[in-house]
Amino acid sequence: MKELSRIALKVNPSTTLAIDSLAKQMKADGLDVIGFGTGEPDFMTPENIADAGIAAIRAGKTKYTPAAGIVQLRKAAAARLKADFGLDYDYTQIVVASGAKHNVYAALRVLINPGDEIIVPAPYWVSYCEMVSICGGMPVVVETTEAAGFKMTPAQLESAITPKTKALMLNNPSNPTGMVYTESELRAIAEICLKHDLYVIADEIYYKLMYDGRPFTSFASLGEDIKERTILVNGVSKSYAMTGWRIGYAAANKQLAKLMGNYLSHSTGAPSTISQWAAVEALEGQQETVEDMRKVFEERRNYFVKRLNSIPGVSCIMPEGAFYIMMNIEKLIGRTICGVKITDDDVLAEVFLKNGLVAVVPCSGFGIRNFVRWTYATSMENIKEGLDRLEKFLKE
Ligand SMILES: Cc1ncc(COP(=O)(O)O)c(C=O)c1O
Repeated sequence: MKELSRIALKVNPSTTLAIDSLAKQMKADGLDVIGFGTGEPDFMTPENIADAGIAAIRAGKTKYTPAAGIVQLRKAAAARLKADFGLDYDYTQIVVASGAKHNVYAALRVLINPGDEIIVPAPYWVSYCEMVSICGGMPVVVETTEAAGFKMTPAQLESAITPKTKALMLNNPSNPTGMVYTESELRAIAEICLKHDLYVIADEIYYKLMYDGRPFTSFASLGEDIKERTILVNGVSKSYAMTGWRIGYAAANKQLAKLMGNYLSHSTGAPSTISQWAAVEALEGQQETVEDMRKVFEERRNYFVKRLNSIPGVSCIMPEGAFYIMMNIEKLIGRTICGVKITDDDVLAEVFLKNGLVAVVPCSGFGIRNFVRWTYATSMENIKEGLDRLEKFLKE
């Protein structure tokens, strides 16, 4: 048979999903595995939002919608961006997609010409580089370190720019690190993007999950000139415990928004109509539940970090947002645990899953070695048990 798409053949499966499916398989085989793999809130979707979805079904709101989403949702997203960041977007500048992931993909689709370079700071969310490659672009990875708080410096950004650089992928707060850029750090990055005429895909899906009373700055709010070149990506999955509803949105200048809408009209058509109506309620309805969930995440984070740092051989820095922890395993490299020599994070994650019955994600897929990612979007009971198991595992 003829050769399949060379681009498709090069796509790596998501490491997050790979460890998750192995953990699920072990669970199905009757093993008591605790999963810290996929990053999704363990909370139920708030009742007012679920009710809005049910009401949409009962009202017969079950037909196709415009490709970029129903006007009510686009207006609700614009109003949320105004309320939270003071940003002015007309609803025609809002593009709804089937999850923020699909918004990032649509953004890359409209930006990239073959060979264009997209700067991706590492550690990065697992899908960014693959999506850039699928779109015919070249991911240019800028490595950051734990010592620098996993933050890219302006000098690092500047030295990664070439005449082919089209855009910067900026995830703030970050998955997997939980790092958050301050306003002044963002201003320094914005200045360089303006100087070199770069677009910025600002993935701010975790913006509601900020801790220690830190303020969040949306990249597009730094000025009209930067707003014009920013594709702001956001969504309801993480903040409203709606991962399975698959609704994200992007805000951009009118031309970019139109092109993204055109692209979506020929790919998914439109996201689920029912989910769109539920998302209207999420964005327009009461926001107290979001704050309640945030507080619970903060409590879990505090416990997690303190406890993890009391376990010999591993450590982590304090994440400032999102719901992930980067566990440094450098001190374990070369040790033998459960009869296996630990040579890197992939080996550790596999041995820990098979022997300790805990699923964590090796960070090799996030562009950094010798870290594994835990999520605290799971119950305190699971967190305590998971860390008990880690402690026991490391004594083996
Ligand atoms: C940084 C980041 N962006 C986007 C997404 C995708 O969000 P959605 O579920 O709305 O597609 C995720 C999900 O893990 C994420 O971590």
